[in-house]
This record gives sequence, C-alpha cells and structure tokens, in this order.
Amino acid sequence: MNKEVILTGLRSNDEFHLGNYLGAILPMVKLQQKHAGEYQLNMFIPDLHSFTTPIDHGTLYDQTHQNLKVFVAAGLDIDQPDTFIYRQSYIPAHSELTWILDCFTYLGELNRMTQFKDKAAKAGNDAEQITSDIERVKEMMLAGGTANVGLFNYPVLMAADILLYGAKYVPVGEDQRQHLEFTRDLAERFNKRFGEMFVLPATIKEQAKFVGTQEPVRIRSLRNPDRKMSKSIDDPAGTIMLSDKPEEAAKKIMTATTDNQAKVGSPDFESRPGIANLLQILKLLSPGSEANVSEMNYEDFKQLVAKNVSAFLSNLHAKLKAVDDRELMQKLEADELAMRQVAEATLLKVQKAVGLRPL
Ligand code: TRP
Repeated sequence: MNKEVILTGLRSNDEFHLGNYLGAILPMVKLQQKHAGEYQLNMFIPDLHSFTTPIDHGTLYDQTHQNLKVFVAAGLDIDQPDTFIYRQSYIPAHSELTWILDCFTYLGELNRMTQFKDKAAKAGNDAEQITSDIERVKEMMLAGGTANVGLFNYPVLMAADILLYGAKYVPVGEDQRQHLEFTRDLAERFNKRFGEMFVLPATIKEQAKFVGTQEPVRIRSLRNPDRKMSKSIDDPAGTIMLSDKPEEAAKKIMTATTDNQAKVGSPDFESRPGIANLLQILKLLSPGSEANVSEMNYEDFKQLVAKNVSAFLSNLHAKLKAVDDRELMQKLEADELAMRQVAEATLLKVQKAVGLRPL
C-alpha cells in the first residue's frame, strides 16, 4: 500500500437531490474512474461530522447506507482494489487523534474559520444574526446560542480524517479549502515539534489536478434560479429529489421559472439563470443532447429536459434496487478492518511522540 492517497468524504446525513448528484456524486465517480489504479482512494463517510448541525438522529444510520447506495448506483465501483470505503465512526482513532490535535490547535485559528462563522450564525434564532462578525457570533454562543462545540471543532476532526491515512490529495470545494489549509498548518506544526509524523497534504494549488480546472457544478433551484438547489423541505417545487417519482420530477421541470425570451439561444447564468440552469442539467445528464436546442421555444425545450430527467430517475431507481446490501456491508466491514490498522499505526506514533505510550 504505497500508492499516494487521495481522500474524499462522502456526505451522509441528508437525502440527496439532483444538485448533489451532478455536483458531488458524479464527480466522485469520475475521480475513481480516472485515478484508481494509479492512486489509493480513501472514500469515507464522515458520520461524526453529521451532527455538528442539527439532524434527525433517528434516521442517520439508515440514511448513511441509503446514500452510499446512491454512490454505487451512480457507478462507484466497490470491487476496485485501490478504493477503500469506510465509516469514520467505526474507526475510533479519528476521535482519539482529534483530541490530541485539539491540544495543539489555537482558539484563534478555529475562530477564523468562515464556515463555522456562517453556520454558527445560521444556528442562531434570529435570522438577522446571519453575520460573519465573529464577535457577535461568540456573544451569541455565550448567551446560549444554538451552535455547538462540535461545529467549532469540525476542522480538527477533518484534519484527523486526513492525517491518519497520510493523504496527500484531498479534492474539496471552495468551502473546505480553509479547512485544508488549517490541516497543513497543523501537520507542519506537529512535524516541527515532534519530527516527521504526518504526510503534509499538497497545497491548494497542487490539489487542482484532482478538482479539475473547470468551475464546479452548481445546480440552481428550479423556482429561484438565483439560489442553489437545496433540500426539498425548504423549496419543494424547486428541488428534484433523487427519490422523486419520474413524472413528479418532469412536472417540476415543466413549471420551472424562466424569463421572457422566446428561444433558448445561448443563455448565461447572469441574465437568464433559469434557462441556463435547465441547459446545464440537460448537458450533464445526457451529454450531446443539447446540440440543437438553441432554436427551440421554451415549451419544447422543457419537454426535452423533462424527458431526460425522468429517464435518468427511472434508470437510477432501477440501479438502486439492484445494489446488493450484503455485498456493500461486506465491503464496508473489510475496508474498516484494513483502514483501522493504518489509522492505529499513525495514532500510535503520535501517542508515543506526545508521551502517552513508551518510546
Ligand atoms: N467537510 C467535508 C464537506 O463538508 C466533509 C469532510 C469531512 C471531509 N472530513 C473530511 C472532506 C476530510 C475531505 C477530507 O464536504
């Protein structure tokens, strides 16, 4: 096992929508198709991260499995020998290393993390409190705000996820870059103090070869195309859940918000976000089928998109049914066993370095 490691997190707690599929799941499948063989791929489920913001604990365990099945239905090959799939909470070293790293992390560093600030502010009761002003967020937390300490500590657990396996490449979106920088800082600090302990993850710049040079895919709400597609409880008509019935999804496409032009033409997201969004969906679902749409009127164009979306869903539902639960569980358990050994070896080195185990 001396191939360089690419490590990614497979989100687990929310039910998936079409935006997740096109923006996160498909890119992950493509990553495997392109790089497995040459690299080791660690694809893990950060289930301990799942309740840094409020969730339904009663469904977390099943949702985790359901979501993993979607990855498999989307083409993730679980028989690929360089790919390891595992649940974070099944490998206790993640939690143990987090505690040790916590004691080498400065409050000021975590205070600067913008994702924490945004999410902590959103967890407040008052919508007006959505602010990136850290002093106000801290005040709110001290005053009994609803952000929890896990949310604050999120980047340290993420650093442990990465450092335990010596991962060099961690392809993440814009919102996670700061956490990756923090991981590098922490690894460097530790190595300086205790000797070469951790593999230093590549710089953000070097990570680009796995993230791709293209703009990340951001599917918009069908109803409010200025916003991202999000969970259906917030925006039911604007969101296509992967569990939607094909004809239900087709209806949502037919009632999508557009604009007052007559033909599709070549829309951009700035001036015609609704049509640009539908065109993006079409392109990603069935590459090539967008070739002759520019002269189409909106009605025909929507019909075409609706047809493709409903065909995509029927196909996905059939593939989901075909995923073998037992096989998937065996894969998880085998990989958790293998990865536990890797993680524990790293943890032991650290424990020795900090004086918890004899040298
Ligand atoms: N924070 C990541 C996200 O929101 C998920 C994640 C947790 C992760 N630990 C990680 C991603 C380690 C990469 C590496 O998408």
